[in-house]
Amino acid sequence: MGHLNQRNIIIGVCGGIAAYKSAELVRLLQKQGANVRVVMTDGAQAFITPLTLQALSGNPVHIELLDTEAERGMGHIELARWADAIVIAPATADILAKLANGDADNLLTTLVLATAAPVFVAPAMNQQMWAQAATQENCDTLRRRNFLFIGPDAGEQACGDVGAGRMSEPADVVQTLNAHFPSRALEGLHIVITAGPTREAIDPVRFIGNHSSGKMGFSLARAAIDAGASVTLVAGPVHLDTPEGVTRINVDSARQMLSACENACSQADIFIACAAVADYRPVTVADHKLKKQGTSGLTIELTQNPDIVATIGQAFPNLYTVGFAAETQNVLEHAREKRTRKQLDLIIANDVGNNAVFGQDHNSVTIIGSELELHLPEASKLQVARTCVEALAKEYRRTH
Ligand code: C5P
Repeated sequence: MGHLNQRNIIIGVCGGIAAYKSAELVRLLQKQGANVRVVMTDGAQAFITPLTLQALSGNPVHIELLDTEAERGMGHIELARWADAIVIAPATADILAKLANGDADNLLTTLVLATAAPVFVAPAMNQQMWAQAATQENCDTLRRRNFLFIGPDAGEQACGDVGAGRMSEPADVVQTLNAHFPSRALEGLHIVITAGPTREAIDPVRFIGNHSSGKMGFSLARAAIDAGASVTLVAGPVHLDTPEGVTRINVDSARQMLSACENACSQADIFIACAAVADYRPVTVADHKLKKQGTSGLTIELTQNPDIVATIGQAFPNLYTVGFAAETQNVLEHAREKRTRKQLDLIIANDVGNNAVFGQDHNSVTIIGSELELHLPEASKLQVARTCVEALAKEYRRTH
C-alpha cells in the first residue's frame, strides 16, 4: 500500500507555462490512490482548462472563492479541512508574494490560510524573477512559516533563458510527498509494544533498574500509529510523552509487564518486545526500608524473571513476535542465536557498546528474519523506527 493511498491532496494550479505539468502531477497522484481536488487561479485557466484537470482528478475543479454552488457542496472551509496536504504547483512569483503577505483574495490563498495541513510549493518562473530579492525574501518568509519547497530546478526555460526557476518534474513532486507521508503499511493491525526499563523492588524505596530511556519503543509506537496500526504501549517507568493515538499501560516490574502484555496480546497481531527487562528480581521485597547494618556488606538473593517475549510467543502461537538484541560484541551472531532460541519471527540487533545507544537520540540496527538481514545506517530513533516498521510490515504481509 503506497504512502499516498487515500490521502486527500489539493493541487493548487497558478498561471504559468508549467501549468501543463500539473496535469501529469494529478495523474500520478491518482495512480498512487490519492484523492485529488484541483484549485485553479484565474491565471491558470489561461494555460490549461479546468475540464482537463477535472477529467484527470475525477472531481470538479474549484475556482471561485464566493461561488454559491460550490459552497453548497464543499465550501472553502470544508475543503481546507479535507486536505491532508496542499501542493501549489506551479507556484508563481505572484502567489508566493500573496502567501508571504497572508492574502486571502482568491480561493487558493484563502485555503492556505484556512488549512492546518502542510503546504508544499513548487515554484516555476523566469530565472530573473526567481533570483529577485523580493521573491527570495518572500520564500524565506514562507520557509520560516514551515511552507515546504519543492525545487525549483535549473535548466533551459520556456522563455529561452537558462537558470533556476523551472518547476520540478511531477515525479519528483510525488516522491517528496511520498517521503512526507508515512505509509499505511500496518493498516488494520493491532500491535503491542513494550518499552523502557523495568524496576524490581528491593524495599519500598529501592529497586534494581537499568538505563533504558524508552525512546526506541516510543518511536516504534509513533511509527506504527503513523503506519495505520492501533497500538498498545506497555511502558516501564520513563519520562516520555505518549504518542498521540497510542494506548499506554504503565508498569513497573517485569511480572507486571508480562501480565499487561498477556491481556493486550489476546487481541493483537504483532508483538514487539523493545523493553530492557530486568533478568532478575529480589526473591523477597522488604516491607520496610532496609537499614544499614554495621560495616558488613549486604547480600540480596535474586531469582530469574520470566522472559516476556518468549512466554508471550508460546501463549499466542499465531502472534508475530519481534524482539531486540542489545549486544556489546559479536552482535549479529548473538542476535541470530537469540531469535532462534526465543522463537521470534524477527529480531532487531543493535550494538550498545560504548554507551552509544542508551538515552541517545540516534541508533543503527540490523533487522534479522529467517530470510532477511537488513542493516540500517545510523539515523534518528524515529527514522530507524519508521524503517523498521516498513520492513516489519513487508515481512508480516509476506507471511500472512
Ligand atoms: O535475553 P535478552 O534480554 O538479551 O533478550 C532481549 C529481548 O528479549 C528483547 O526483545 C527484550 O524485550 C526481551 N526480553 C523479554 N523479557 C525478559 C528479557 C528480555 O521480553 N525477561
